[in-house]
Amino acid sequence: MPRQFFVGGNFKMNGVADSIKSIVSNINKAQRDPSTQVVIAPPAIYLTLTRELADPSVGVAAQNVFDRPNGAFTGELSVEQLKDAKIDWTIVGHSERRVLLREDDDFVARKTKAAIDGGLSVILCIGESLEEREANKTIDVVTRQLGAVAKLLNEQEWSKVVIAYEPIWAIGTGKVATTAQAQEVHAAIRKWLGETISPAVAENTRIIYGGSVSDGNCRELSKEKDVDGFLVGGASLKPAFVDIINSRL
Ligand code: G3P
Repeated sequence: MPRQFFVGGNFKMNGVADSIKSIVSNINKAQRDPSTQVVIAPPAIYLTLTRELADPSVGVAAQNVFDRPNGAFTGELSVEQLKDAKIDWTIVGHSERRVLLREDDDFVARKTKAAIDGGLSVILCIGESLEEREANKTIDVVTRQLGAVAKLLNEQEWSKVVIAYEPIWAIGTGKVATTAQAQEVHAAIRKWLGETISPAVAENTRIIYGGSVSDGNCRELSKEKDVDGFLVGGASLKPAFVDIINSRL
């Protein structure tokens, strides 16, 4: 069965209630490709508002979740609290958290496992730095990041994971990966899944690209065999996000 195309919108730490209402209203009103799965990730404070306003066909994701069920973890959000707020998705392992907040591979893996155990689906972010790419370590890095998660998940649990390959050097820079670069890494990730988890997981797991995706480059990228969608940052805040959702029309 073909993998359903997936477009995520990561608002990051942007927007206030009025601007987020406007973004959600634009998405609700737009003519969207019905074959594309859309999930938007507002700042945590606006998760409930976004869930209430977004069309039921639009998923809502947290941008992060903690790995422990509850307790003295000031500022964190638990899986149970997200489910209580009717949030069914979470992003984990975004490079901005790996780098700025020093979230290591094992922490990201524990978050992934806790989220799935609690009934959430996960957008698992992986990707290399410019230095790692220039040192030809891209595949080593992304497979190391995936390997930490593989230690904790059984084969069935991978059905709850969408992998987002986000080269750090392309995030927020305007320097989008070329179609060849994206396809090469996505194919390597799918190969690793097949060899490490199972051929079925390799075939069925969506591998989406993130890093300066725009309405100007999404169509070409979407034609690549192993590009199953996008995780969009800056462009998800703009009306052009709908064009990215419709990049295969
Ligand atoms: O999570 C998506 C994000 O990292 C990509 O950001 O602004 O380059 O689309 P941007």
